[in-house]
Amino acid sequence: MSTSGDNTGFSAHSTTSGMVGGGFYNANSSPQWKAIEAVLPFLDQAAQGLPVTGSGPVCLADFGCSEGRNSIEVMQRVLASLLPRTDRPVQTIHSDLPTNDFSKLFLNLRPEGRPVFDCNRVFSAAVGGSMYDQLLPDRSLHLATTFNAIGFLSRRPVEALPGYIIPNGPSKERGNGFVADDDRSAFAEQAKQDVGVFLQRRARELVPGGKLLVQVFGANEAASTCDGLYDLLNDAVLVHVDQGEISRETYERYYQPVYMRTLDELIAPVTEDSHGAGGLFEIEETKSYEIAVPFNERFRSDGDLDRYATDYVNFFRAFTQTVLTNALPETPDRDTLVNRVYEKAVDLLKANPERYPFRYIAIAMLLTRRG
Ligand SMILES: C[S@@+](CC[C@H](N)C(=O)[O-])C[C@H]1O[C@@H](n2cnc3c(N)ncnc32)[C@H](O)[C@@H]1O
Repeated sequence: MSTSGDNTGFSAHSTTSGMVGGGFYNANSSPQWKAIEAVLPFLDQAAQGLPVTGSGPVCLADFGCSEGRNSIEVMQRVLASLLPRTDRPVQTIHSDLPTNDFSKLFLNLRPEGRPVFDCNRVFSAAVGGSMYDQLLPDRSLHLATTFNAIGFLSRRPVEALPGYIIPNGPSKERGNGFVADDDRSAFAEQAKQDVGVFLQRRARELVPGGKLLVQVFGANEAASTCDGLYDLLNDAVLVHVDQGEISRETYERYYQPVYMRTLDELIAPVTEDSHGAGGLFEIEETKSYEIAVPFNERFRSDGDLDRYATDYVNFFRAFTQTVLTNALPETPDRDTLVNRVYEKAVDLLKANPERYPFRYIAIAMLLTRRG
């Protein structure tokens, strides 16, 4: 196994600077919304079960909000359930890394200068920081959510991943690379530690009886959300390695620091003592599921390969580009090279769409803070 290292160049307890900003993430995050939509019943259940007796604001926070399109929808949904239940003021908080592009979030919180949450006792705010740190005061939070975000690890558990660009490895069908067993174990362990730390931090912030909904892309026995998609990005990067534009050493050090967990791996830190969070939360609901991916559905119905390839590549470009860019030497034409990698991905996909089938597996748990 290669030695571990945190030298990512990103802010503390994070391995990315965030999504592609300037509206690009918002425009390319419909699959993520579909994955959230499937757990809206959990969100409703959480909102209905929030402890709202007492005084002062009821506080709702979404961690890993990105540019906010999906995050604001989530808050709207919670508010629809919550406001009829209480007269207390409500504080909504959208949180992401300090390097996240918050500009669209702020604009969308005040479209045409008016608050998006149409109620004079709802007040919105944004907080920059890693979700693996405590970001809010002790016992101040009533509902915490995180969607499609906790798969991004807090640190790089290994220095290099020489044979592939994501720790879960290539799809069985494509097999275009390898990940050593001990490297994979290091990521699996890091992923559990991250959930353990996340639970500890939220446990401090949440009031007793407060709710925590954790949802993220992941894997089941049959498939993983990385299949197809990362095979394609890996192939596109390797074309540039073969052409001598990216060195073999750079390729071996580059990986996307995300891990596709199974539901069991997500739940383990809640139920086991070994990750510092055992006993803090009670499990209310869990779910492992697959969503119909909008660009797959559209391609099936209209057969428009150009559009499919663009939508598919833009979808993963939004959440992989900052890490890929940071992994490449800082040369004047680095951005051009990154553009060419994604253009190559479009070409490869159009030439062989059946080689890179994408499936979106997701997992979720709804928890209650004990105490
Ligand atoms: C794929 S986006 C999900 C955005 C939104 N929740 C959604 O479902 O559409 C993942 C988000 O997690 C954020 N993220 C990654 N690591 C993080 C960390 N350590 N702390 C807080 N946010 C993080 C990224 O910046 C990004 O905005």
